Amino acid sequence: MNFFAVRGATTVSKNEKEEILEKTKILLTQLIETNKLSFQDIVSIIFTTTKDIDAVYPAVAARELGMKSIPLTCCQEMHVKGSLPLCIRVLIHVQLEQSRALQPVYLEKAVMLRPDLAKLTIAIDGPAGAGKSTIARLLANRMGILYLDTGAMYRAMGLKVLEKGKDPGNSKEVIDLLPDTDISVQLGGEGQKVFLDGREVTNEIRTGEISDAASKIGIIPEVRRKLVELQRQIAKTASLVMDGRDIGTYVMPNAALKVFLTASPEERARRRWKELKQKGMESDYDTILQEIIQRDANDSNRSFAPLRKAEDAVLIDTTDKSIEQVIQKLENLLQN
Ligand code: DC
Repeated sequence: MNFFAVRGATTVSKNEKEEILEKTKILLTQLIETNKLSFQDIVSIIFTTTKDIDAVYPAVAARELGMKSIPLTCCQEMHVKGSLPLCIRVLIHVQLEQSRALQPVYLEKAVMLRPDLAKLTIAIDGPAGAGKSTIARLLANRMGILYLDTGAMYRAMGLKVLEKGKDPGNSKEVIDLLPDTDISVQLGGEGQKVFLDGREVTNEIRTGEISDAASKIGIIPEVRRKLVELQRQIAKTASLVMDGRDIGTYVMPNAALKVFLTASPEERARRRWKELKQKGMESDYDTILQEIIQRDANDSNRSFAPLRKAEDAVLIDTTDKSIEQVIQKLENLLQN
């Protein structure tokens, strides 16, 4: 016999007997079904709850599921300040004839406990310069999950159009290039790498000319469909924070958290101007402001998947907020 243990957790919205039993049953059933376990395989189960749960023992749910002779016990989870409230955890010990990997199950808000295991998707949308990429990258780093910058894909397509000497404003010319264009990304600890037809273009796409081309080709539905398909495929494989213009409304309408970041056009122009200055590049504030206003109009007025806040997205105006303040707010939203 081989001995194993498998973990799971869930949360309830209130300290109420019916919900505690129902959520615990869902958790146990999913652990059993996911891992193809039978009651005979289970040696014992330890349940813990946070100190705000005392309406019923979660082990009652196991008995009601028919686990009559399995030894069960319930304890209070150590209280750590600021930790996820109203949480029920289980540790199931099993014995199996054959050795095999067991899958933990994290449900409801407990996905926050192990975002690397449960699939957690976070959508961040907003206009250029609102702080999306900085915030999304930092949040993903802190949570130990991936970050996908979808704007880089539109930029890579913009680069292709310019390299081929085509006009980004001419839909037909752009659409004709699509079948022969391969855009891919590599996500990981050192950040995102973007490839155009097998060649890395990560740094090359960060110019004003490419921003402008990306904004123009982003209006074309055929371009969006191709890139959105790729984005959705990536979202299926891992927990991630994805930023762009239509992530909460179109690419990942079921994201666990949707955020719409914004800031005044003047503040966004000021940030861009400062960023360029730090890179040693002189630029004109008024020109940047006009470009930002033009890109906002392109992104918001296109008919297919325009930039707009999803109804269930949380609106955050970053004009007077520090990066840390925004991150704190997002972490609070994820925990509550
Ligand atoms: O976020 P960014 O500046 O890298 O985006 C470049 C352009 O691509 C921008 O004009 C908007 C467009 N874009 C889009 O239409 N949809 C996305 N999901 C991401 C970017």
